[in-house]
Amino acid sequence: MEVMNYPLEITYVIASVLFILGLKGLSHPESARRGMHYAEIGMLLAVIGTLLSGEIVTWEWIITGMVIGSVIGTAMSVWMPMTAMPQRTAISHSFGALAAVLVGVNEYAVHTEKAYGIMPALGFEVLFGALTVTGSLMAFGKLQAIITSAPITYKGQNFVNIALFFITLVMFVYLIFFPNNATIFYVMIGLSFLIGIFVVLPIGGADMPVVLSLMNSYAGLAAAATGFAINNKMLIIAGSLDGSSGFILSIIMSKAMNRSFANVLFGAVGTPQVDTSQLAEQRPINRFTIEDTKFALEQAERVVVVPGYGMAVAQAQYAVRELSDELEKRKVKVEFAIHPVAGRMPGHMNVLLAEANVSYDQLLEMEVINPSMDTVDVCIVIGANDVVNPAARTQKGSPIYGMPIINVDKAKTVIVMKRSMATGFAGIENPLFYEPNTKMLFGDAKNVLQELVAEFKKK
Ligand code: TAP
Repeated sequence: MEVMNYPLEITYVIASVLFILGLKGLSHPESARRGMHYAEIGMLLAVIGTLLSGEIVTWEWIITGMVIGSVIGTAMSVWMPMTAMPQRTAISHSFGALAAVLVGVNEYAVHTEKAYGIMPALGFEVLFGALTVTGSLMAFGKLQAIITSAPITYKGQNFVNIALFFITLVMFVYLIFFPNNATIFYVMIGLSFLIGIFVVLPIGGADMPVVLSLMNSYAGLAAAATGFAINNKMLIIAGSLDGSSGFILSIIMSKAMNRSFANVLFGAVGTPQVDTSQLAEQRPINRFTIEDTKFALEQAERVVVVPGYGMAVAQAQYAVRELSDELEKRKVKVEFAIHPVAGRMPGHMNVLLAEANVSYDQLLEMEVINPSMDTVDVCIVIGANDVVNPAARTQKGSPIYGMPIINVDKAKTVIVMKRSMATGFAGIENPLFYEPNTKMLFGDAKNVLQELVAEFKKK
């Protein structure tokens, strides 16, 4: 009979509670840092508890691993810029999943006789672990532009992928009944590595955030399965939390992009080719100068800033903060409206604005800002396009039809800062730019904002 190690079990329970508090904290920018600290302490407790559990065979390898891991982790946190956060996350998932695969292989190699009972968990662990390792590495390569971010497609691709997955699944089921067949076990792992590569190949670079959170989910599920395989409750709880939160995030992102999961994974639409010829706008546009913009803002009582991918590209967040400060000095109320998929990764705008010390109280979610948009005097759209495109409400055939947007077109005046009339991620024309209340202020967002702030500081 298994003897309970009470101190260890209690440590694991405390760590699990801290993980849950950590996730809860992450649900709001204001409590996010505290949430991270809870999760860090939880992880520390889980590691210390495991190290003191009395089952350590050799300390040399553990210490060597911890030193190597700490050096890599510290280097990544110091040198990888905020904008490379998606790549950083991809690599972390790959490492986590590799750990799950290695534990699974070790468990199989050392205790093959035990494999009968644990093969469902062990097989699941190595299968999902292995495809997450290569899938995350592919995502890293696409985001870092090591491999082309364009979807790589060929005829019959979905068939090949599904067939590969089916064969792997059959091997897994076979192993549940005949776990001693080591060849099948290792071939299954090899095929899972291949699946990770093949599945991510046809997905465009811009869709990588959804892939990443899905991989996050898989890595969590692999960890939970590891917990079942080696009877570690901590891994079961932490893995399940990771698996479910990653899955929920993927669904939220897909919904906010008005895309189904299947469309992201099998649609090969990362760089959309959309025929917009039938929707081509004939209306003229209205242009604004820096002086016009300054004048409009000075007259306003309520200003809403809507940031998008272009703000991230231009790294204009500091200039935006300065403009907000200048306006507030003049008693203008400034708020920021954040769309859930503005930019290219979850929380992209929040991270950038937090970096520039924009107050959390000024950040409003789309559902909160939309009902009062008609009372906004000036809405400044900074490098956002799809997330403010009214075609999502009005044009039935549009690829973004049905996607919830920030209704900036309802504001009294809309000033759009971007470099040209170019389209955004969805590759479609934006009727907002031709509305009579819209004024286009062309230029790089950072340069334009800096000029505007300088204009405000003149007197
Ligand atoms: P987009 O629709 O991609 O539009 C960005 C706009 O920024 C472009 O039209 C571009 O126009 C402008 N821009 C680029 N560089 C600029 C610069 N230096 N200065 C000023 N403007 C610049 O961005 P969005 O409105 O944030 O929408 C996000 C899109 O990405 C959505 O379609 C969403 O579904 C998709 N997506 C999001 C995520 C997540 S999780 N956030 C994940 C995958 C996909 P110019 O070239 O004319 O300047």
